[in-house]
Amino acid sequence: MTNSGGGDIELQPLKPMLPQLQTMWRELKWIVTLFVLTVFLSIVVYPSRSLVPQMLSQVPSFPAFVQPPIAAKNEINYTDTTIEAEDRRKLARILKEASMNDTKTVIVTLMNQAWAEPNSTFDLFLEGFRIGNGTERLLRHIVVVCLDDKAYSRCLEVFPHRCFFLRTTGIDFSSEKRFMAGDYLRMMWRRTQFLGSLLKLGYNFLFTDMDTIWLRDPFPRLAVDVDFQIACDFFFNGNFTDRHNAANGGFKMVMANNRTVDFYNYWYKSRLRFRRRNEQEVLNWIKGDRYVNKIGLTMRFIGTTDVGNFCQRNWDITKVCVMHGNCCIGQGNKLMDLRQEKKVSTADEVSI
Ligand SMILES: *[C@@H]1O[C@H](CO)[C@@H](O)[C@H](O)[C@H]1NC(C)=O
Ligand SMILES: *[C@@H]1O[C@H](CO)[C@@H](O)[C@H](O)[C@H]1NC(C)=O
Ligand SMILES: *[C@@H]1O[C@H](CO)[C@@H](O)[C@H](O)[C@H]1NC(C)=O
Ligand SMILES: *[C@@H]1O[C@H](CO)[C@@H](O)[C@H](O)[C@H]1NC(C)=O
Ligand SMILES: *[C@@H]1O[C@H](CO)[C@@H](O)[C@H](O)[C@H]1NC(C)=O
Ligand SMILES: *[C@@H]1O[C@H](CO)[C@@H](O)[C@H](O)[C@H]1NC(C)=O
Repeated sequence: MTNSGGGDIELQPLKPMLPQLQTMWRELKWIVTLFVLTVFLSIVVYPSRSLVPQMLSQVPSFPAFVQPPIAAKNEINYTDTTIEAEDRRKLARILKEASMNDTKTVIVTLMNQAWAEPNSTFDLFLEGFRIGNGTERLLRHIVVVCLDDKAYSRCLEVFPHRCFFLRTTGIDFSSEKRFMAGDYLRMMWRRTQFLGSLLKLGYNFLFTDMDTIWLRDPFPRLAVDVDFQIACDFFFNGNFTDRHNAANGGFKMVMANNRTVDFYNYWYKSRLRFRRRNEQEVLNWIKGDRYVNKIGLTMRFIGTTDVGNFCQRNWDITKVCVMHGNCCIGQGNKLMDLRQEKKVSTADEVSI
């Protein structure tokens, strides 16, 4: 840890500070432990890397910042023909129960069998919410979208009332997906299609990959008046509105309105233009398209100080809200360090 102090401590005589420091260190140890586990898990799962096409674009500027998201305005009477009628009813009930009642916002994540194993990604993900600062109250807003029946039954066991089984005829999404293999691509596009249908139902959503650890509540750091906010991949250039930033589809906040519904349709259709590309790559291609500017979609990138990842280094564990376990490949040295940290921090009381 290079940065072990919080900014909150005033200069005080050392002695009264000690218990405080000890408490803080205990907390940090938890964080580090979780963090290490994320890294391990993310290696097992998939490294989310994409080659980033840089697009030129006109970007509307708007004041960035703070406050919880606003309520979804238009309710669109919408029927998703890719979801069976009975499942649609279940989905409607889950969304109603899970959404923040003032804003119709849900937190959505996706799970397959590989991630649902006991003591694997899913448990770690939930544990993160319980341990994080101000994150436990967000648990009730999470909707877990399960891609196969094993994932679904495990979800029902651990996290009842918030599990939705997204059936996809003819495809088995249960095993780990090799990055860019055919089923993996289909899974990612199915995800995009599904998220688009949430918008059509009038729900704002924050989508998060499951290989994340929520250390703090990210909502206060999201802009209130932006249609589409998305985390950065390996590079954030410091300008929140600059579409040269590489988007990372693993964490995004999207407001339900006509612009985002249009945008999701356009994005989903664009898979036909860029064959054998995943949704993130395609997003990076289309984010500056004339059509996207025409519909007036506002887009903002979330800084890596708020949603961090291993693709770049300027996150600070004492400040970052969400850590995403991507980009771990090639970070052997960092892993070695973290393993050491883990040994230290798990030596005494920590067990997950
Ligand atoms: C939505 O569509 C369904 C089926 O077409 C219809 O029964 C229902 O009344 C509609 N609801 C609203 C609010 O328009
Ligand atoms: C939101 O809904 C829950 C459960 O239905 C209820 O307990 C809570 O008071 C509601 N909160 C607000 C702000 O309406
Ligand atoms: C999961 O972890 C707990 C606590 O570390 C342990 O007791 C349990 O046996 C583990 N379960 C599996 C299936 O590995
Ligand atoms: C949790 O967050 C609040 C608000 O940012 C802060 O005041 C508090 O010190 C934090 N608690 C811990 C244990 O870090
Ligand atoms: C951020 O990027 C946008 C679009 O590229 C540009 O118009 C704006 O001037 C940039 N802002 C800063 C502060 O560089
Ligand atoms: C959204 O689109 C619907 C249908 O095209 C239209 O009736 C509605 O007025 C639009 N809402 C806004 C806020 O533009």
